[in-house]
Amino acid sequence: MEARDEEASDIAIGIVGLGAVGLPLATLFSRAPGVSLILLDESEERLDAIRRGESPHSHFEGRYVAELEDALVTADPADLSAADAVVFCLPTPLTESREPDLSAVCAAAEAAAPHLAPGTLVVLESTTWPGTTREVFGEIFGGVEDVHLAYSPERVDPGRVDPSRPDGDPLGAHVPKLVGGVTPAATERAVGLYRRAFAEVVPVASSDVAEAAKLVENIYRAVNIALVGELKIAFDAMGIDVWEVLDAASTKPFGFTRFDPGPGMGGHCLPIDPFYLSWAARRAGAEARFVELSGEINRAMPAYVARKTAAALASRGIDGASARVLLVGVAYKRGVNIVEESPAFPLAEELSSLGASIAYCDPLVPECSLGEALELTDEVLAAFDVAVILVDQVGVQFERIVESEILVVDTRAVLREALRGEPRYFVG
Ligand SMILES: NC(=O)c1ccc[n+]([C@@H]2O[C@H](COP(=O)([O-])OP(=O)(O)OC[C@H]3O[C@@H](n4cnc5c(N)ncnc54)[C@H](O)[C@@H]3O)[C@@H](O)[C@H]2O)c1
Repeated sequence: MEARDEEASDIAIGIVGLGAVGLPLATLFSRAPGVSLILLDESEERLDAIRRGESPHSHFEGRYVAELEDALVTADPADLSAADAVVFCLPTPLTESREPDLSAVCAAAEAAAPHLAPGTLVVLESTTWPGTTREVFGEIFGGVEDVHLAYSPERVDPGRVDPSRPDGDPLGAHVPKLVGGVTPAATERAVGLYRRAFAEVVPVASSDVAEAAKLVENIYRAVNIALVGELKIAFDAMGIDVWEVLDAASTKPFGFTRFDPGPGMGGHCLPIDPFYLSWAARRAGAEARFVELSGEINRAMPAYVARKTAAALASRGIDGASARVLLVGVAYKRGVNIVEESPAFPLAEELSSLGASIAYCDPLVPECSLGEALELTDEVLAAFDVAVILVDQVGVQFERIVESEILVVDTRAVLREALRGEPRYFVG
């Protein structure tokens, strides 16, 4: 069968998995000329929200979902038979034993495979171990005539605004898009597909390389965040302000990239993805010790913040067992409502195990497993013993904390300038 030219002709693109990755991708493709979309998800709730033009994510506005009004929104994999290309954006979590869990990817791929037309381009975007597209998709789609298999990692950073672009590039159209095929022909097809929507498409040698590159990007962050976390603890013990040290080191114009410590690591990606590599390395008879060590350090950070909170309370003679703790910001980072893997939860568990009562405020997260968010008012602040700042969340009136008398444990240096030297201020 003759390869279809993705750039020149009209094209039907299927996107399977309409979450934080699949939805923005769909909006980008919907803006390209000649593109019709088939959007598939197993969640009827998610599909209904998309049909109503509603977004599940605070950083991804409903108006972007509304742009998808002409798409076929479906739960039926048979609808993918009309697609020239199908992109899979399914979750890739870890199992309880911290090993790759490809069950959603495989279930969606197995459901789609019998319906695909000969010559379909199949692209995986989920973060995964190097070899997945070739081995796992190779097996699942092996029976589709002339199928082309490729991998293209999603590099979306939820809530990121690119100051160099007039619109802030909220959908990442100007973030270079890596593409690696299982065969050179698949790479070529996938490059043509993504050129429709992305300003820069970077072909790489193979799907294995593209998969590995995505993991390296996230491991780089996870390891560096663990490093500054460990340095924060060490410098704090020595009576040195880690942020002053980082400000100083950052004046070096080369050879140093700044990372800032926080209360631990959260989100869909960094607490999970690195272990896809350590698993794959073990399988190949190699070790990835940095990955394991950084995971250990990052997971231990909430316990450190709990110890610092107990020490702050003790400075006012308050016992952890009777303490009323207000967590400020429970999303895993500023500007988003994403709470998956947020360090707020292990921290709350640590503090609850001491007997403390926990509440939180976060204007972007009205409710979560900790209950309903409180508004940060003077009355609320007066009702708590300590405010633990976990995120410099958008919409939090931090000046109210400054003006109050409450103890502050600050894991992000948000009030470092305002409260420096005050006995009620603690680095967390
Ligand atoms: N969220 C991010 O910022 C980000 C960034 C880069 C890469 N990634 C990676 O992209 C992948 C997708 O992540 P996400 O954050 O978009 O996930 P998500 O949980 O936001 O969305 C996944 C969607 O897939 C749907 N789904 C699950 N199983 C299905 C099935 N069998 N059939 C059809 N639909 C199914 C769910 O209903 C959901 O709507 C993961 O591998 C993740 O690691 C995520």
